[in-house]
Amino acid sequence: MNPKACFLLCGVLMSTTISHRVAAADDAAAGKVLYQNQCSACHSVDEDRIGPRHRNVVGRKVASVPGYDYSSALKMLGGAWTPARLDQWLSGTQKMAPGSKMYLEMDDAEQRRLIIAFLESVSGPDDRGTTHASPP
Ligand code: HEC
Repeated sequence: MNPKACFLLCGVLMSTTISHRVAAADDAAAGKVLYQNQCSACHSVDEDRIGPRHRNVVGRKVASVPGYDYSSALKMLGGAWTPARLDQWLSGTQKMAPGSKMYLEMDDAEQRRLIIAFLESVSGPDDRGTTHASPP
């Protein structure tokens, strides 16, 4: 590739990568506000409250926080939390796991997406990274 083409192409690739990171951080920051309003009465990132803590929830086995007293409905669900399953959960907890101790139906898909972006930002190997929103 000639240097001029590389300059153009690499510039485009770099700027899309950067704007993607910025967009993800923006989503997580917006999701954090929603989380504080709609989840933090019962949840925190690092402490079990009425509900279990959320650090690393994306990728975590369902109902697996040690010492937290889950309902049998949630324990029976099996598998791990993915963004898609969290979306299903927040759409209707009682539809996904009838008899669960959490009652919530969020109809707004955009709000669900932003909250899940926040949960992703406190999950994974770089969960304390500077591009991410800090936990409440
Ligand atoms: C009124 C209290 C309450 C609110 C508000 C609430 N939760 Fe929960 N949440 C719970 C309880 C209780 C459980 C445990 C459910 C069970 O054992 O059946 C739970 C479980 C969960 C789990 C499963 C965790 C695991 O370890 O498997 C996720 C994920 C979750 N909540 C996300 C959220 C999110 C995101 C919000 C905000 C949109 C939210 N919750 C709002 C009480 C609440």
